[in-house]
Amino acid sequence: MCGIVAYVGHREACPVILKGLKRLEYRGYDSAGIALMNSDLTVYKKKGKVADLEAHLAGQDISGNIGMGHTRWATHGEPNDVNAHPHFSTSRNIAIIHNGIIENYAALKTLLEEKGHTFQSETDSEVFINLIEDIRINNKCSLEEAVRLALHEVVGAYAIVVLSKDAPNQLVAARKGSPLVVGIGEGEFFLASDATPIIEYTKDVVYLNDYELAVIKDGQLDIRTKEDIKQTPYVQHLEMELESIEKGGFEHFMLKEIYEQPRSILDNMRGRMVAEKDHLMMGGIREFENKFVNADRIIIVACGTSWHAGLVAEYLIEDLARIPVEVEYASEFRYRNPIVNERDIVIAISQSGETADTLAALELAKSKGATIFGICNVVGSSIARATDAGAYTHAGPEIGVASTKAFTAQVTVLTLIAMIIGSKRGTLENSKLRQLMVEMENIPAKVEECLKLDAQIQQIAAVFKDVTNFLYLGRGYNFPVALEGALKLKEISYIHAEGYPAAEMKHGPIALIDAQMPVVVIATKDSSYEKVVSNIQEVRARKGQVIAIVTQGDQVIPSMADYVIEIPETSEQLVPLLSVIPLQLLSYHIAVLRGCNVDQPRNLAKSVTVE
Ligand code: F6R
Repeated sequence: MCGIVAYVGHREACPVILKGLKRLEYRGYDSAGIALMNSDLTVYKKKGKVADLEAHLAGQDISGNIGMGHTRWATHGEPNDVNAHPHFSTSRNIAIIHNGIIENYAALKTLLEEKGHTFQSETDSEVFINLIEDIRINNKCSLEEAVRLALHEVVGAYAIVVLSKDAPNQLVAARKGSPLVVGIGEGEFFLASDATPIIEYTKDVVYLNDYELAVIKDGQLDIRTKEDIKQTPYVQHLEMELESIEKGGFEHFMLKEIYEQPRSILDNMRGRMVAEKDHLMMGGIREFENKFVNADRIIIVACGTSWHAGLVAEYLIEDLARIPVEVEYASEFRYRNPIVNERDIVIAISQSGETADTLAALELAKSKGATIFGICNVVGSSIARATDAGAYTHAGPEIGVASTKAFTAQVTVLTLIAMIIGSKRGTLENSKLRQLMVEMENIPAKVEECLKLDAQIQQIAAVFKDVTNFLYLGRGYNFPVALEGALKLKEISYIHAEGYPAAEMKHGPIALIDAQMPVVVIATKDSSYEKVVSNIQEVRARKGQVIAIVTQGDQVIPSMADYVIEIPETSEQLVPLLSVIPLQLLSYHIAVLRGCNVDQPRNLAKSVTVE
């Protein structure tokens, strides 16, 4: 939520910042702005996308080697030019960009107003910069000292960068709860919400920790805690390649990411599983093997699509490893005084590794003594760093706001985990384990086959693009896939969609079914196949239009369904990795045909760093 970029060095700052903002636009796209230091400290900002800001900059003096930019996902105050960042202090001497929420901003604002500070916007960020200014004036201290002291006054989450007229070659940044990365180049520095704006210039980065300040001045990076204790920066060299964050010839990031799945699933298994050598291991699990093997239960906390991956894991772990699993919405778990103890394992699943609710849920579980295992895609992210152990999903950057390849990567890791624990606990027979390993190795090729359904799915999308409702049904392993299919459709096409366990339909949703209601039924050949066939009959009897996802060669369902999409056969436990692919493509094509902005759907942001 909100993307921030800053630059100081030998290049022109503005083009670097604008390019960086475009890479971060998935984090928010309500408004964008930039502050540049040349003969003066100048702020340009505009409601809308970074492209609108770019147009607004035409003809302006945008020279300068130091500056900062922001792309906003509105929290306090509607998206408009005034609420856009950067924000000036009352004197207009210092400016801030901010990602996060300052919870005590109202009380601080009242105090500051009493002292004569004035406010243009409704944002908490403008309160933050006036607080810094107030401290600076009262204490007659340096900018970095004022920022440091201000951190003691604010409650909430922030990643900030501050630029001052009086210290024209200096950037001061700080974080708590919202991510911030420092890129270290040759005589130049970058600050950004994630590494994507940086890797074109340098792969050497430092991830700031909570309550740390970074001061970049005279070609030096100085990191201190808010207690003013100097820190030795831990410089990491990133492996990320530039092409992984570009569209590579695809019309949208989402489509590119759907098509990357054979590769991302393979990358995920690499080094963790080689069926012919009977090799199956995961570093993070090995470290906590005893805990996993003896766990009383596993609690999974996550949000959105990651929560759906957690539901698949519930089926997998209970089925293969016979450990009870509870899957919790992180946002509920954190506030309902949950019962957790030191024999529990809590798995936090998050693509971004920055989701505020998931982070808070795991911190809560940690405080109650549970072992925390993280499954994240973004290397070095807050959740990855807050866990005792974990596994990266190696899906590569996911830029499209709708999660696709992250889901299949999460399910792949969770499948491997269930297999490893099941075999260690003796609940998964060797013959079954081998059969699953061989089948796992076939999955990338089978996903490739599913992608060949694209043209057929596009035609089905054309039939249904104007409907207002959709129902998705699935049972067993395909129930979470039904939820995921419905979420994908509603978030990018704005069509109302609901996912249900197929058998639940008769307890309510069946009332919705008429000739106008398309019902996607995931009816692959598995232990609940016969029952799902009956559910299809029930839909047909009410004239609902059935789009069935079936196993290749199915002889029964084609005679009952209006549209049939055939996917390759696989083991029941692995079916979500295939059955979700046509649903991703269906939602993608419907959204494109409706003229929706697929990669940046309205009101959403990729990384939900506020609760
Ligand atoms: C859906 C989607 C969201 C995220 C959710 C959790 O397509 O992208 O529902 O899955 O916001 O995000 P992470 O996985 O980053 O914690």
